[in-house]
Amino acid sequence: MCGIVGVVGREPAAPFLLDGLRRLEYRGYDSAGIAVIAPNGTLHLHRAAGKLQNLVALVTGREPHGAVGIGHTRWATHGRPSDENAHPHTDCTGRICVVHNGIIENFATLRDQLQARGHTFRSETDTEVLAHLIEEELARLAACPPASLPVTAADGRQVEGDGGRLRVAVHEALLRVQGAYALAAISLDEPHLLVGAARHAPLVVGIGDDANYLASDIPALLPRTRLVIRLREGELVALDRDRVLLYDETGRAVERLPTYVEWDQSAAEKAGYPHFTLKEIHEQPEALRRALAGRLTDGRAYLAELDGLDLSRVTRVYLVGCGTSHYAGMVAKYAWEQWLRLPVECIIGSEMRYAPPPLDEHALVIAISQSGETADTRAAAEWAARAGARTLALTNVVGSSLTQTVEASVYLYVGPEIGVVSTKAFTGQLAVLYAMGLDLAARRGTLPPEQLQELAAALAAMPERVAACLARPEPVQRIAAACVNVDHLLFIGRGVGYPTALEGALKLKEVSYIHAEGYPAGELKHGPIALVEPGKLLIALATASATYDKVLSNLEEVKARGARVVAIATEGDTAIQRHADHVLYVPAAPELLSPIVNVVPMQLLAYYAAVERGCDVDQPRNLAKSVTVE
Ligand code: G6P
Repeated sequence: MCGIVGVVGREPAAPFLLDGLRRLEYRGYDSAGIAVIAPNGTLHLHRAAGKLQNLVALVTGREPHGAVGIGHTRWATHGRPSDENAHPHTDCTGRICVVHNGIIENFATLRDQLQARGHTFRSETDTEVLAHLIEEELARLAACPPASLPVTAADGRQVEGDGGRLRVAVHEALLRVQGAYALAAISLDEPHLLVGAARHAPLVVGIGDDANYLASDIPALLPRTRLVIRLREGELVALDRDRVLLYDETGRAVERLPTYVEWDQSAAEKAGYPHFTLKEIHEQPEALRRALAGRLTDGRAYLAELDGLDLSRVTRVYLVGCGTSHYAGMVAKYAWEQWLRLPVECIIGSEMRYAPPPLDEHALVIAISQSGETADTRAAAEWAARAGARTLALTNVVGSSLTQTVEASVYLYVGPEIGVVSTKAFTGQLAVLYAMGLDLAARRGTLPPEQLQELAAALAAMPERVAACLARPEPVQRIAAACVNVDHLLFIGRGVGYPTALEGALKLKEVSYIHAEGYPAGELKHGPIALVEPGKLLIALATASATYDKVLSNLEEVKARGARVVAIATEGDTAIQRHADHVLYVPAAPELLSPIVNVVPMQLLAYYAAVERGCDVDQPRNLAKSVTVE
């Protein structure tokens, strides 16, 4: 949600800024802009509502030549998507320029105060207050002796370091701000400096040769560098082309070595697929192997990350997440309650945030988030930590905000997920949650060793089964073609088939905009069956399970009312053909593990239906990859 890029170097900044914004498009946005400090000391500012190509068209032929600049893709929160509301924003003097991701919660008060002091606002955004606050701080600092930082802050504190006046001004301005932010700022008065800051939103520093960079995420930096430093909560950074100076939230200089990004650029590119989403669906066998590597050895599941957590007093588990991550938690609940003999509750991040259950040291709270940046999930984890619960993050992004909130983090290792909708992260989450459940069951002694071994072996075989599903897309493509003009679809399942149905429905509505609902099959007759009429399409999870016969009865109920049924069934099950109009076969899997394979045809169905309908699969309208606001 919103993308930030920034560079300070010797080469023209604009190509990096535009390319970086393109690589951050997956985050979701509705306008874009760049600002570059020209060699003659003027600011070149270009902003355009809509897709990035509008900005590129605007800039083409009049590329600014300076080597210092910032860029932004905006996902509107305050003020509609328009050229005026697009970032970067400037102060009254036009000499300070800011881009921002997040929400300034007290912006209305700050704007009123600033206006009362004579500032003029040119946009409806919360971000613009930052430019004016920095303007005021810089005016105050102008009274300090030239280039003699450390300087004295407004309240008399000494602010350490020499990251320029702009860094001190940003620091002081942020003390007046409540909310979440990642920001980058430049000033015509210190034209060789780029300043960044982050709280509750991601910002990564890239360290290059003769240039340094800022970006919301690593893919924007990869063409230039693999050496990165991820800002921690409240940190600021001042960059010139030779130096990177980091400061903590009190303004004290801190040292931190950069980390080296192992995955290469092709992992963040399409590798011949027409869309990232399709590429990521097809990457699942390999992603699952990586997620499970080193976690299933000698026939047992083991996650070293759990060793540091004292779980001895834990009597209940809460799995918290949003969207697809919530559904991964719902699947895990079915397995964990059987394996661990503990009550497991799944809560949506935004619900837990304002209606938290009573938590103490007897609760283990696992926050599930692909990005590790989802504001509601992070806030719920923070609350759990304050309440004394054991806290664990399950995320794909090393060093993400969520990991700084919790006691221990378990990573997915499925590689970067660029398509806005979650695919390989979902199956990766399931794989790691299964492995974690088996490990916890072994530690608690709640499953016999033979059963643990059997399940670990079955889990290890899942990547092959997913590969087999992906090898035959044609039957799914035919059904997708038949969905083009459908306006509503029901997905049903029982047991783990229920959250799988929810995920199938979510995928379809997210990318193809076809209205879809997931339902427990047994609940059909308590309401949704009223929607069934001749010709209605229904997708049923009907693979081998303890409730297979019950699902068949549900299919009979809807077929009797004229519905067309697509069944996802286990290979070799010919009997299902009497109960369904179309069958999508998947390889056999133990019931509790089956969602890893059963979701694959539903991902493909959503993808091909969206393509047939001409939808923007990788960046569906109104959605953002990482939802860093409430
Ligand atoms: C957004 C995305 C969803 C995702 C959800 C949670 O809404 O569009 O695909 O499932 O955020 O994201 P997280 O990064 O916390 O898993």
